[in-house]
Amino acid sequence: MMSKKIILITGASRGIGHATARYLAGQKHQVLATARSEQLLEELKATNTRRIDYVACDLLDAASLQKIIDYIRDQNVEISALIHNAGGLINKPFRDLTDQDWNAMWNMNVLTAVRLLRALLPFFAKNAHIVTIGSMGGFQGSSKYPGLSAYSTSKGALSIWSESMATELKDEGISVNCLCLGAVQTEMFSSAFPGMKAPVKPDEMAQFVGDFALKGHSFMNGKVLPVTLGDP
Ligand SMILES: NC(=O)c1ccc[n+]([C@@H]2O[C@H](COP(=O)([O-])OP(=O)(O)OC[C@H]3O[C@@H](n4cnc5c(N)ncnc54)[C@H](OP(=O)(O)O)[C@@H]3O)[C@@H](O)[C@H]2O)c1
Repeated sequence: MMSKKIILITGASRGIGHATARYLAGQKHQVLATARSEQLLEELKATNTRRIDYVACDLLDAASLQKIIDYIRDQNVEISALIHNAGGLINKPFRDLTDQDWNAMWNMNVLTAVRLLRALLPFFAKNAHIVTIGSMGGFQGSSKYPGLSAYSTSKGALSIWSESMATELKDEGISVNCLCLGAVQTEMFSSAFPGMKAPVKPDEMAQFVGDFALKGHSFMNGKVLPVTLGDP
């Protein structure tokens, strides 16, 4: 019997990941949503119980990450797309950034992707697509913002890692692309830039990210793409 295919979305309890989970479920895809907040994931599932399931887990914690693997094994599902969207942001002037801050950005925005992919490798379907969510701040040549050096550096590293993974996984039929998003009106954006208004809503970005995860790998692999109306 063929295993059921799922789209795994990290950071799906709110913001862009949440909107993308709802969008793809609305397009009749099976979505496995993850984040730490069980309550928010339960509410997400309630919007489409047929198409959305969730695993609450902390991607920074190896034991917690295992819950995703256990789910995939128990349910005998294959991953047709992984949208690694979970991320964190520290906004602090460079002179105030501690080693702890730099480690936190590295761990959250780079190492979680590395650990997750390593653990998930046996469970990808043929022709699967991995989409990492980078940032315009981490896109080479874009305008940079004061206070975002650790965040932007970590997102830059994520984009290079994505290019590397595309090369390594090509022969296994797995494609990897990185979307460097511009400003989207989410909690992360509001807390980083209080009072500022982003030109794009999560639902709007979700359509682009969702459609790209479904079809983008028919046209490209190993690409780092700016997704922005301006700079950033
Ligand atoms: N919004 C923007 O303007 C913008 C621009 C460029 C790039 N991005 C990128 O887009 C992605 C989504 O951003 P957003 O604005 O939607 O952010 P958000 O509203 O803050 O959502 C972040 C998501 O990541 C999850 N998360 C955080 N830490 C986690 C952990 N340790 N383990 C598991 N999940 C964790 C959060 O869920 P829990 O708290 O429930 O764990 C939440 O679902 C991020 O990678 C961000 O860097 C955003």
